[in-house]
Amino acid sequence: MILAQTAGQVVKDLFRPCKSSVKAACSDSPSTHFDLPVYLASTERLFYYPLMRSSIFETKLGRLYQGDCLELMAELQPGSIDLVLADPPFNLGKHDGKGFNDSLADHEYLDWCEKWITSGVKLLKDGGAFFLFNIPKWNIELGHVLTQQGMMFRHWIAIDIKYTLPIPGRLYPSHYSLLYYTKGKPRYFNRPRVPIPVCRHCGGDIHDYGGHRNKLNPEGLNLTDVWLDIPPVRHQSTKRRGANELSIKLLRRVLEISTQPGDMVFDPFGGSGTTFAAAKEMHRHWIGVELGDCEPIIRRLKGEAAEVTSPGRGDAAKGMTAERNGNGKHNGKPTRLPQVKNLTPRLF
Ligand SMILES: C[S@@+](CC[C@H](N)C(=O)[O-])C[C@H]1O[C@@H](n2cnc3c(N)ncnc32)[C@H](O)[C@@H]1O
Repeated sequence: MILAQTAGQVVKDLFRPCKSSVKAACSDSPSTHFDLPVYLASTERLFYYPLMRSSIFETKLGRLYQGDCLELMAELQPGSIDLVLADPPFNLGKHDGKGFNDSLADHEYLDWCEKWITSGVKLLKDGGAFFLFNIPKWNIELGHVLTQQGMMFRHWIAIDIKYTLPIPGRLYPSHYSLLYYTKGKPRYFNRPRVPIPVCRHCGGDIHDYGGHRNKLNPEGLNLTDVWLDIPPVRHQSTKRRGANELSIKLLRRVLEISTQPGDMVFDPFGGSGTTFAAAKEMHRHWIGVELGDCEPIIRRLKGEAAEVTSPGRGDAAKGMTAERNGNGKHNGKPTRLPQVKNLTPRLF
């Protein structure tokens, strides 16, 4: 059994299960900046040790792990991450039987979210950013969890969704929520500019800018917290998995806002690897984990063609049931939306 000390803190059994190869695996300098600095009491020297868990895939900039994000997060070095981007399952009963329970009771889902949010906050450097993508029903609760963790609210970003369905008794649901928090004052913040919107038929301006069009910055408009220009990922030719892929445009923007080249990005819910693909393109280090099939991520990062996918119905309204008779039920049963094919910006 090896006693080790990390960052002034005595840790017993750090290398559990203890392997005889531990010393051999240590080196005098880190090979990547997510290696653990470890003080080996037996030799009175500081070594760098790669994580016990072996990655399933590595590139020059990143490492992908297969498994439960909570377990991996417990092994990563606190204060080592510049950006956590989390796009968890929405607990909508779409993925039962895929290695996790997607139909938890509300309080169980929120308790689980609190666990990985708490771990994610610990991993962040001071000033690091936490982006959390979810439906409004959950994010209104999860924002509170982030605040309780001492994080600083920056924005609730509304991601406009097209092609959704109206629900009886409700407003027309038309956005996802992207929470943006930082661990204290942001260590990096960049406000991107977006192209001045034009009519796609005539090419003319959509707005008149109160007669001040000539004063607009030619590089574009300041980005607001309502993003109308994020396309759904729903074409067979580009979609990587049957479900749940985010637009890479969204990830590029998140990285542009909150990180610089060389920064370390962590995504606990790899999915099809959109975060890692964006990080690779934009020269950020990345580390990620996915509980399910990692092949789509690996294929994507190797530049291989996408396989997939199945159409389904839109999810803007997920987490809501239609309200008829004022109680969300119709003839005593919860009202269901009709099945509509090919309208799906994203499936869960
Ligand atoms: C909404 S998807 C992420 C999609 C991803 N952002 C993309 O653009 O491809 C959520 C993913 O989290 C994975 N997942 C669920 N529970 C997990 C856990 N405990 N640890 C790691 N991954 C998990 C699911 O298998 C699913 O692929």
